[in-house]
Amino acid sequence: MTAARPVAKAETESPPPAFDAASTRTDLAFRCRGLAIDVGVESRRIVAGLDLEVPRRQFLCILGESGVGKTTLLRVFGGLAPAAPGSTLELKGRPIVGPPDGAVFVFQNYAASLLPWRSARRNVELGLEASLAGPERKARAMAALELVKLADRADDYPWQLSGGMQQRVQLARALAVKPELLLMDEPFGALDAMTREILQVELRRIQRESGATIIFITHDVDEAVFLADRLVVLKGKPASIGLDLLSDLPVGRDQVRTKESPEYLKLRHLVYDAVRRSGD
Ligand SMILES: Nc1ncnc2c1ncn2[C@@H]1O[C@H](COP(=O)(O)OP(=O)(O)O)[C@@H](O)[C@H]1O
Ligand SMILES: [Mg+2]
Repeated sequence: MTAARPVAKAETESPPPAFDAASTRTDLAFRCRGLAIDVGVESRRIVAGLDLEVPRRQFLCILGESGVGKTTLLRVFGGLAPAAPGSTLELKGRPIVGPPDGAVFVFQNYAASLLPWRSARRNVELGLEASLAGPERKARAMAALELVKLADRADDYPWQLSGGMQQRVQLARALAVKPELLLMDEPFGALDAMTREILQVELRRIQRESGATIIFITHDVDEAVFLADRLVVLKGKPASIGLDLLSDLPVGRDQVRTKESPEYLKLRHLVYDAVRRSGD
């Protein structure tokens, strides 16, 4: 990571407000209490005492250094891996014991996640086959492709699409099931810088239009600060929450103007410092 020095002003101003879970408790998408995670044959504890409440429609970015446990944490959130005994995990008030219906993953590796013998639309229909009949399923898939601006490429196969487009198809597939919670693990990590910046803007628009709650994992401070309504930085070994901040950036964001604003630079400074100190 390269850390450009933020403006000096950032050091003197008061930080943005800390996140106040109590004010939003009535409308929670996701909640965990006392979460601990053990990995490997020796049950090494990589996460301990992690408490998190995510209100519906929030765009939460979780940051942490490589190896801190981000991917494992997200898998546990989505019921793909077990939490240690004594941990509480809930999706919309229902305990998470296995993969819950309302949570969908979007991974970094779009190429491996799309079926090459299916068109974009038929890939998007994948998660709907058990629940919707043909015409309805097709309409839902087309609406999701519309949302990611790929309706005109619905009949193309993955190999006919660019990396950015393939990642949009994966996103459309996730959105098509109208999930309570989108769990995204560095989903833009394999894309070139320009495509990535375009998709960041698109993802914020899509989140507003779809009303989805997003937990987005990344090690990229700029990506997190640009995307998030709220920023959480993991800290320590085992990891728990070191910093939890609400973003004070405007809802509509622009890759040039937003990143030049004092609010952006201040937030970036705070988050960089927290990530840098996270191993302490
Ligand atoms: N199934 C597993 N068995 C053993 N170790 C694991 C397993 N899953 C993750 N780990 C270890 O847990 C730590 C966190 O991994 P990971 O969640 O991939 O981190 P991050 O995504 O933050 O880079 C690493 O030290 C990794 O080696
Ligand atoms: Mg990871």
